[in-house]
Amino acid sequence: MLELVNVYAGYGTGVVLHGISLRVKPGEVVGLLGRNGAGKTTTLKSVLGLARAYSGSVKFEAREISRWPAHEIPRLGIGYVPQGRRVFPQLTVKENLLIGWMKASIYHSRLDQVLGSFPPLIDRLDQRAGTLSGGEQQMVAIARALLMQPKMMLLDEPTEGLMLSLVREVERLVRAMKEQQLGVLLAEQRLDTALRLCDRIYGLEKGTVVWEGTPNDDVDDLRKHLEIRME
Ligand SMILES: Nc1ncnc2c1ncn2[C@@H]1O[C@H](COP(=O)(O)OP(=O)(O)OP(=O)(O)O)[C@@H](O)[C@H]1O
Ligand SMILES: [Mg+2]
Repeated sequence: MLELVNVYAGYGTGVVLHGISLRVKPGEVVGLLGRNGAGKTTTLKSVLGLARAYSGSVKFEAREISRWPAHEIPRLGIGYVPQGRRVFPQLTVKENLLIGWMKASIYHSRLDQVLGSFPPLIDRLDQRAGTLSGGEQQMVAIARALLMQPKMMLLDEPTEGLMLSLVREVERLVRAMKEQQLGVLLAEQRLDTALRLCDRIYGLEKGTVVWEGTPNDDVDDLRKHLEIRME
């Protein structure tokens, strides 16, 4: 469903990705592992049209989208949960979830459906998002992306800074996405989480893929490449 072939991308100041190739199928969870600055976020942004692809190909469902304007890409069915739980702190949870939605009737029926997976949010719809815990804010960001009913989800370090019980909660949500046949591209620094969730993993270093395999392969090699702590 998503295929990157030899993508060179960056931000105008220089090239960050040096020939990234990867693919994600429906119902597949694919991990993007790497240290700070390895290019995980930039890889996700190159799919979304937020980082400039200088060369190479980005295909979603056989359409070449590397030259598409960023605002047209979510409509294809690509959901995005940016790094760092980007909620609007002054808006309520409900208002945060409403962003991106125009037709109130469709929104309300979907809201009930999606909130079923997020019990902690149900009682907090009128609370300002800025007063939620970090974990609850992450739930809002994920619920907001799910409301768009995407075919594929790009998750940028959704477990970052969360305590272990909430890491487990995020893992549960990713598994639910997989069960619904979403393709998931998951940028992660937690190797343990990636090993539990992912069907396949790409290890990134300095904007190139240095390791590719499954959780059943020799991940010691991956760990050495990336110097990721195993927790
Ligand atoms: N908007 C930007 N403009 C210029 N350079 C950028 C921009 N965003 C990221 N970079 C650079 O691109 C490189 C890769 O950054 P990126 O954010 O993709 O890494 P990452 O793997 O997501 O790291 P982290 O784990 O810290 O989130 C870094 O050297 C960074 O400084
Ligand atoms: Mg990042």
